[in-house]
Amino acid sequence: MTTGPAAHQNAVTAEYMDLSPLQVRITTHRLYSECPDSPDVTVRDQLRLPSDADLLDVGCGTGQFLRDLDHDGHTGRLTGIDTSPEAIRQTTAGRVSALHASASNLPFAPEAFDIVTARHMLYHVPDPLHALQEARRVLRPNGVFAATVNHATTAPRTHDLVRAVIEDAGVTPSANSPVNAISSDTLPPLLRQVFGNVTTVRYDNALVFPQPEPLADFAVALLPFNGISATDPDHGRLAEEIRGRAVRWFSDHPGQVWRDPKGWALCSATAT
Ligand SMILES: C[S@@+](CC[C@H](N)C(=O)[O-])C[C@H]1O[C@@H](n2cnc3c(N)ncnc32)[C@H](O)[C@@H]1O
Repeated sequence: MTTGPAAHQNAVTAEYMDLSPLQVRITTHRLYSECPDSPDVTVRDQLRLPSDADLLDVGCGTGQFLRDLDHDGHTGRLTGIDTSPEAIRQTTAGRVSALHASASNLPFAPEAFDIVTARHMLYHVPDPLHALQEARRVLRPNGVFAATVNHATTAPRTHDLVRAVIEDAGVTPSANSPVNAISSDTLPPLLRQVFGNVTTVRYDNALVFPQPEPLADFAVALLPFNGISATDPDHGRLAEEIRGRAVRWFSDHPGQVWRDPKGWALCSATAT
C-alpha cells in the first residue's frame, strides 16, 4: 500500500467528497455536548471580529461560519478556501466567495487579510508548519491568526468502540489516516515558532448520549478517522455492527447515559 503525503491527501479528499459525515459530527457536538459548545461562536467572540475585517477561512467546510458573518452584516471581504469541491459549492453564497485551494499554497498576495482562521482543519494538513507560514504570509501587520484544534484524546470511549468493532471484524484499517498529530498540545509551539507569540484557551467538555441512535451516528462518522473510508468495502457492515453494539449497550445499562470526555482549544497569534 502507498503511504506518504500524497496518500494522506487522497484520504482527506475522499473523506470530504460528501460533507454528510462532517455534518453529523457538527450536529452531534451541538446537540449532545454536556455544556453548550459552539466553536464558531467562540472564535467570533474571542477575536472580537471587527465588522470590516477582511477574513480568510482556511478549510471552510460547510461554510456556515462565513455565511453567518455575512448574514450578520459583516462588511469586510469573506473568503473561504477548501480542497473539497463540495465545500466550495456549499460555502459560495451572498457576499461569501470560496476557492478550491490548499492551506499549503494559498492563492493570495502577501498581506491580503486582517484575519485568517483555520477551524478544526490543521490536523488534516500534510505539512502544518508550512500551512502556518502561508497564513502568516497573507496576514497584514497586526493581523490575527486563529485555529481551533482538538485535544490529543477526544471522545476516547467512542473511538474505542469503533476500533473494537473494526478489530473484532478482522478488518485491517488503512495506513493512510486522514489525520496527523496536530492537537491542542502540539499546535501552540508551532504557532510560537512562526509568529513569535501564541495564546491558547482550552475548552473541556463531554459528549452525553441518552439513546443509541445519536451515539451510533457519531461513531459511524468516526470510521474514516480510524482508517475506514466511506468507500471502503467493509464500511457498511462495520456501520451495522456499530449500530447493533450501541443498541446493546443501552439495553444492558438501563437508565444510564453514554458519557465521553472531549475538548478542543482555540490557539491564536498576532502577525507582529
Ligand atoms: C473537519 S472539517 C472542518 C470544516 C470547518 N472548518 C468547520 O470547522 O466546520 C475539515 C475541512 O478542511 C478541509 N481541508 C482538509 N485539508 C485541507 C487542506 N490541505 N487545505 C484546505 N482545506 C483542507 C476539508 O475538506 C474539510 O472541509
